[in-house]
Amino acid sequence: MDQLFRAFRVHQDESGFRSGVEHLNVSTLPDADVTVKVHYSSVNYKDGLASIPEGKIVKTYPFIPGIDLAGEVMASRDTRFQPGDRVLCTGYGLGVSHEGGFAEVARVPGDWLVALPEGLTAREAMAIGTAGFTAALSVRRLLDNGLAPGQGPVLVLGATGGVGSMAVAILSRLGFAVTAVTGKPEAREKLTAFGAAEFLSREEAASGAKGVLGKERWAAIVDPVGGAMTADLLKSVQYGGSVALSGLTGGGAIETSVYPFILRGVNLLGIDSVFCPEPLRHQLWKLLAGDWKPERVLTAGVTEYPLEQLPEALNTVLAGKAVGRQVISFIN
Ligand SMILES: NC(=O)c1ccc[n+]([C@@H]2O[C@H](COP(=O)([O-])OP(=O)(O)OC[C@H]3O[C@@H](n4cnc5c(N)ncnc54)[C@H](OP(=O)(O)O)[C@@H]3O)[C@@H](O)[C@H]2O)c1
Repeated sequence: MDQLFRAFRVHQDESGFRSGVEHLNVSTLPDADVTVKVHYSSVNYKDGLASIPEGKIVKTYPFIPGIDLAGEVMASRDTRFQPGDRVLCTGYGLGVSHEGGFAEVARVPGDWLVALPEGLTAREAMAIGTAGFTAALSVRRLLDNGLAPGQGPVLVLGATGGVGSMAVAILSRLGFAVTAVTGKPEAREKLTAFGAAEFLSREEAASGAKGVLGKERWAAIVDPVGGAMTADLLKSVQYGGSVALSGLTGGGAIETSVYPFILRGVNLLGIDSVFCPEPLRHQLWKLLAGDWKPERVLTAGVTEYPLEQLPEALNTVLAGKAVGRQVISFIN
């Protein structure tokens, strides 16, 4: 196939680090069974890291980042996919060790693809993207560990961010009273639109505990922030409650004690969307297209950029200033 396409590429060589939109030939893409015409991608925190030299995400250069893509199959050596099929891809090596979704064309292994579920457009799938999938996985794990409406408020950290905003929308849709924690007081109206019942600043959310345990406040916590906030908030989870921990925007180290675990039976649940196995991956996408569809963020929290404005979207997410989700459109 001799065909040019547009892609955002990062380089690290003797001339230093640089990035930008380039025209590439399809023959330069990695060898894999399914070639996809990308209609939409999205911007996650990890993509922000992949776009800077100190991000420690990209291992080999030059490289096309982008951990999410949705579009249409152009060609396939995998019998499960035919030209014209609508598909999405998140996680695995995409945009990390295998060239990703910030390109008009991508080549990926068939095992990484999910057929676009009924009820989702490609744009909606990317507005959800890895962030929304991670929020859904967090909610699934909390429910599987006993969370039910009526137990008390559920705290969502980093609530204006990708994972946070999606978690607010999914939980409110399922009937939970959501308390949103945000560092952006100006975004409170948006958070109400996403489904939050209450707001707290990061300082107000602090447990205030002087010792190893504080007042029992939260039935559960969705935590894409990590670091000192996680350690502190473990002290204010109700007896038997859970924390679904997915991220590290607030730090990678957690200094805690055993007491929330051994005196209150608190569960610290690790959330990994990248290698989420089948059939759970398909089940969650089906829920996201149906009963768990985060309509409130899809309606009030999506900003669309053309590929040329991707650097602006990447800078916004790296600065912690994104509200809701940012999608990249390849549809002209
Ligand atoms: N485990 C997985 O599979 C998985 C999947 C997706 C993402 N993640 C991780 O989850 C995290 C969030 O990803 P995302 O794409 O949702 O990023 P995002 O859109 O940038 O959202 C992160 C949010 O965290 C809050 N925040 C930023 N810095 C903070 C700080 N120092 N202390 C407390 N809160 C802070 C901000 O929200 P407010 O201003 O509203 O407080 C920010 O919008 C990242 O670490 C990402 O790598 C993990």
